[in-house]
Amino acid sequence: MLPRLVVPLAALLSLRFVSRAHELPKPPSAWFAAEFFHHVLHWTPIPNQSESTYYEVELLRYGENLWKPIPNCSQTPMLSCDLTMATLDLYHSSGYLAKVRAVNGSQCSNWTHPQTRFTMDEVTLTVGSVKLELHSGVIRGTIHPPRPSVAPAGDTYESIFPHFREYTIEVRKVPEPSKVRAFPQASLPFHPV
Ligand SMILES: *[C@@H]1O[C@H](CO)[C@@H](O)[C@H](O)[C@H]1NC(C)=O
Ligand SMILES: *[C@@H]1O[C@H](CO)[C@@H](O)[C@H](O)[C@H]1NC(C)=O
Ligand SMILES: *[C@@H]1O[C@H](CO)[C@@H](O)[C@H](O)[C@H]1NC(C)=O
Ligand SMILES: *[C@@H]1O[C@H](CO)[C@@H](O)[C@H](O)[C@H]1NC(C)=O
Repeated sequence: MLPRLVVPLAALLSLRFVSRAHELPKPPSAWFAAEFFHHVLHWTPIPNQSESTYYEVELLRYGENLWKPIPNCSQTPMLSCDLTMATLDLYHSSGYLAKVRAVNGSQCSNWTHPQTRFTMDEVTLTVGSVKLELHSGVIRGTIHPPRPSVAPAGDTYESIFPHFREYTIEVRKVPEPSKVRAFPQASLPFHPV
């Protein structure tokens, strides 16, 4: 009776060892860096990573329980990955969790999680462009909000950040290096495009 039990147990154990063991060190840190519809996960490399080391990234929409692999992120030797396409609904969601691990051949590391959940609060506000025109001694400036082409129709900067349309303007006279700060914290007329 005993040998019959021992065989399946040994088979189970060897299966465990054949599956990818957690032997690599995990990436020391991971964090999000995002601008409007440009959402990027960054991580630091494992010590002594080799040419064959790559990283796997998975994403979880907050409130759900299915981790989704992001195949685009599994390329050597990337230390960041653009998650914009996978998080297009960020501004209408409660955010996302991400995790990253190192893989080398049959070895993989434990997962590293960024310390924060990725929400729209993590998104750094930017200006798309500024156009200046000079007419009879008067400089007129037009501020254009960012217009990323991947943003779904209707997801404009103005509709998503209705309360963040205040700009600080700095005016510098060249060639003198002195800096004049005009209208500190002033709210300027805004010209949506
Ligand atoms: C992976 O995580 C397990 C459980 O937390 C831990 O016991 C193990 O030491 C970790 N392995 C590495 C290589 O950090
Ligand atoms: C990295 O490689 C160096 C030189 O080969 C070795 O001394 C060091 O212990 C290695 N570090 C780790 C964390 O494996
Ligand atoms: C990755 O795998 C290669 C080939 O098996 C090995 O030479 C190298 O030492 C491994 N690197 C790490 C960081 O474990
Ligand atoms: C993956 O990469 C391809 C080519 O660079 C790109 O067209 C596609 O949108 C990416 N998919 C995701 C989910 O980021």
